[in-house]
Order: sequence, then structure tokens, then C-alpha cells
Amino acid sequence: MEATALAHPNVALIKYWGKRDVAMNLPAVGSLSLTLGGLRTQTMVRFDATLQSDQLLLNGKPDDRALSRVSRCLDLLRARAGVSSKARVETSNDFPTGAGLASSASGYAALVKAAAAALQLDADADFLSEVARIGSGSAPRSLFGGIVLLDAGIGTDKTTCRTVAQPAEWPLQVVVAITSRAAKEVGSTGGMESSRDTSPYYGAWVVTHPADLAAGLDAVRKHDFTRLADLSEASCLKMHAVAMTSQPPLLYWSGVTVECMRVVQRLRREGLPVFYTIDAGPQLKAVCLPDAVTRVQAELQQVPGVLDARVCTLGAGAWVEQ
Ligand code: DP6
Repeated sequence: MEATALAHPNVALIKYWGKRDVAMNLPAVGSLSLTLGGLRTQTMVRFDATLQSDQLLLNGKPDDRALSRVSRCLDLLRARAGVSSKARVETSNDFPTGAGLASSASGYAALVKAAAAALQLDADADFLSEVARIGSGSAPRSLFGGIVLLDAGIGTDKTTCRTVAQPAEWPLQVVVAITSRAAKEVGSTGGMESSRDTSPYYGAWVVTHPADLAAGLDAVRKHDFTRLADLSEASCLKMHAVAMTSQPPLLYWSGVTVECMRVVQRLRREGLPVFYTIDAGPQLKAVCLPDAVTRVQAELQQVPGVLDARVCTLGAGAWVEQ
């Protein structure tokens, strides 16, 4: 009744921001992401009939804030397996937690994978990705490797997720410029609710998103880096425009983030195959073709305030440790 699983975080190129159903955590829009091979979460789940309640240890410390979402995922898996025992969950990240590096995505992907293995559940990928989504909307993407599409399933009460290109098919690389290790003040969940309720641009974001997603997918299929670069930067800026125009405003960038954006813009003008994307935090991710990675890393490392610039290749979907 015990298993350990590992998962990489992911970064969306065509972003998810907004929910159409909060209780089911159904997204208002789909997304297209890269699974980041260089960073990882490791999660151990042990079901134990002597426990009175579920327990969660995050990076060695009890974490009661995330416990109710974790228990909700565990409940769905327990119901499927016909097991009632509570569980102890021990999870740790080898990168900053809750700081815009998608630790919730890798966290819930590893949780679901480990718990299903501990319960010896013979569940298909669709069921596991539904459970992971209840934990975090971006988590199903970390169950899959390479370049991943999450279909929002508008008009249904489901989402579907799948790999659209394996790492070897188009070996993009990502330089993650870490500009702060602090946890963000407003998490994605609260931010999205605020945007839906208050941003005058939220409606336009949702209406224009399907065309962005279709175009992003087409660029991936054709390995058209320049087009993917334009679409990804535009999706990132649109998402942040919605966040910034929420009340109270959500400005996830720091001055260092903006400096990094300027560096990537300059490198692009010089003809380097690179573009940026930024999630709900101050870190910048520079996506590039393998030839550009050494220069991109060196340039970002030199920006004052960049603490670290880590290179990630595309990674595999979540897996159980044998
Ligand atoms: C900005 O998946 O963290 O990273 O579903 O509320 O857990 P919840 O949100 P989460 O949101 C990710 C938002 C984003 C963009 C993206 O990854 O697509």
C-alpha cells in the first residue's frame, strides 16, 4: 500500500487562465505545454489503516493548506479502489515551491501516480488526468511527456490530455531564469477567480483563446519555431494583461522579469531561435532550439537579480519508481 512517483513540472506556451466550473476545476480554456525535464517532484504515498486522517508533508514540513485538495484527489482514487484507509503523503521538490514554477502541476501528477500505484489501481490515463485536474488545472499536463495538449472539453464535464510531440520529435529546450525563491502572494486559483469577476478583458481572452490554441498546435505539428514563438509570447502577454487588469491588480512580474524579457527580445532580433513565457510568478522561461541554449543561458545568467538559470530538456510524463 505504498508507492513513490516522480513528475516534472510543465510550462504552458498557450496558457490556461480561468475556470468554467470551480468545484470541478474545469478550465475555461485549453492549453499547450512543455514538460520540463530538468526539474522534479518526488512523492511517496502510503495508505495506512491506523491513520485517523490524511497527512501531508511538503519539503519535510506539514502542509495543512493543501491538505483538503490532496484528500479530494485521494478520495476519488480510494472510491475507485474500494479502500477507505487514510494516507500519509511525503512530497518534495528540487526547485522553488509555489513560486510560478508549476510545483502544483508536478505535485498533483506525482501524487495521483503514486497513490494509484499504492492502491494497485488499474486506471487509464483519462481517469488519472481527471483526478489530477481536481488537484490543479495544469497537473494533467505533467502526467504526459514532451509537448502536451490539454483539451478543455467545453460542453462536457471532462478534460482530455495527451502528448502531441515526444521529446525526440522536436527537442526544444527551456532555460528557467529563477529571479526569486519566495512563494507568490496570490496563487493561480485565487487569481483566476479574481480575473473572471473583475477584468474587463477576461471575456476577450476566453473568446479568442481557441484560435490561439489551434494555431499553436499547428505550429508544433509543422515545427514552425518562429510562429510558435510569436503565438506563445502573445498568449503570455494576453494572460498577464488579464491578470494586471483584475481588481486588485495581479502583477506577477518583477523588474528582473522585465529585464529578462528585454534580453530575450534582443536575442530574437539578433536571429537566435528563442522566446519567453512567464507564469503566475516572477520567473522567466526562455524556450529555444538546442543550438541557442548555451548563449541564452549565459545571457540570462548575467542579468542582475537572476539567481540561477537552469537548462531543461523536454521530459517524460510522471512515472512510478520501481
Ligand atoms: C499561469 O494549474 O496552478 O501557470 O487549477 O487553480 O491549480 P489551478 O491553477 P494552476 O494554474 C496555472 C496557470 C499558469 C498558466 C498555465 O500553466 O497554463
